[in-house]
Amino acid sequence: MKRIGVLTSGGDAPGMNAAIRAVVRTALMNGMSVVGFKRGYNGMLMRSLSTADDYIEMNARSVSGIIHKGGTGLMTARCLEFLKPEFQKQAVRNARALDIEGMVCIGGNGTFKGAEALNSLGLPTIGVPATIDNDLAYTDFTIGFDTALNTAVEAVNRIRDTGDAHERASIVTVMGRDCGDLALYTALACGAEAAIIPEVKWSVEKLGDMVHRGVVSGKRSMILVFAEGASRSMIESLDELEARYPKLHIFGDKILSDQLAEIVEEVSGHETRATVLGYTQRGGSPTANDRILATRTGAYAVKLLSQDIGGRAVGVKGSSLIDVPIGDCMKGSTFDSDLYELVGVTGYIKK
Ligand code: F6P
Repeated sequence: MKRIGVLTSGGDAPGMNAAIRAVVRTALMNGMSVVGFKRGYNGMLMRSLSTADDYIEMNARSVSGIIHKGGTGLMTARCLEFLKPEFQKQAVRNARALDIEGMVCIGGNGTFKGAEALNSLGLPTIGVPATIDNDLAYTDFTIGFDTALNTAVEAVNRIRDTGDAHERASIVTVMGRDCGDLALYTALACGAEAAIIPEVKWSVEKLGDMVHRGVVSGKRSMILVFAEGASRSMIESLDELEARYPKLHIFGDKILSDQLAEIVEEVSGHETRATVLGYTQRGGSPTANDRILATRTGAYAVKLLSQDIGGRAVGVKGSSLIDVPIGDCMKGSTFDSDLYELVGVTGYIKK
């Protein structure tokens, strides 16, 4: 292969820049030229007024000084149209017109679906896992997860200080979509009293009881880490809660952390506040672990393409680099029940 393309797609993740840098420099070192597509699959569809807005020729200098930067220099987007075969075919035609023989697609689940489609249409494509959600079970970690985790941990440390001072319980909502890893690892690292995650059924009222027991046992503050996707594993229905707590006004189809805090406060009799960490978790300079993971997997993706291998997703298991069929990598769950149990044990609130 003499010429490849690279893009970042889906939600940005800290470390995407480090992955782009590794892809470009490994390719150049192996005698390949590289095209960088902008705004994920949108760039491949080339619908901007100027091609400079869709793609750029990458060189060693275009990736200088970016390894430590959050976001992605190629920009990113979610491109729902790319689920449709006619758009996928157009992208392959456009890539061929630029003499591109292979692609590296950096992102999460949605990105990998697009990558699988490009590959099945005859354009060898490798997926590099980058999402703060860590929701790809084939790899131990995805690029960006470690940074988001450290950001969340730092935020919870601060919330713990003020909670301790005011003797409050705190509900802290973290991202993760349908995956509880970010909440679970944050809870473990912060010594939280509970992780409320989509993978495990939970009850708001039991949470309130737990906070009450914590206060009785002498805890000054408590941290309950709430995964944004955990509403779906709540035992009580929203209608039930609205009937039982008339002051509560639930709109939409999920419980929000403020509403959760209201119920926990009412059941426990203990002041409870909510904080949503939101996009603070997506930004920021990547940790050393994320930079190294991005550099290793980005370089490995190019190594596979240089051997004319496509249709794989790269990742890590233990300290080893791995690659698996890209169609398989969206299966399975990353949930680790031992880690979940450990939050309960070390949070230590006796039944
Ligand atoms: O996939 C990363 C992520 O940050 C999820 O944790 C979150 O649910 C989602 O993206 C938010 O996406 P958007 O920024 O497009 O609203």
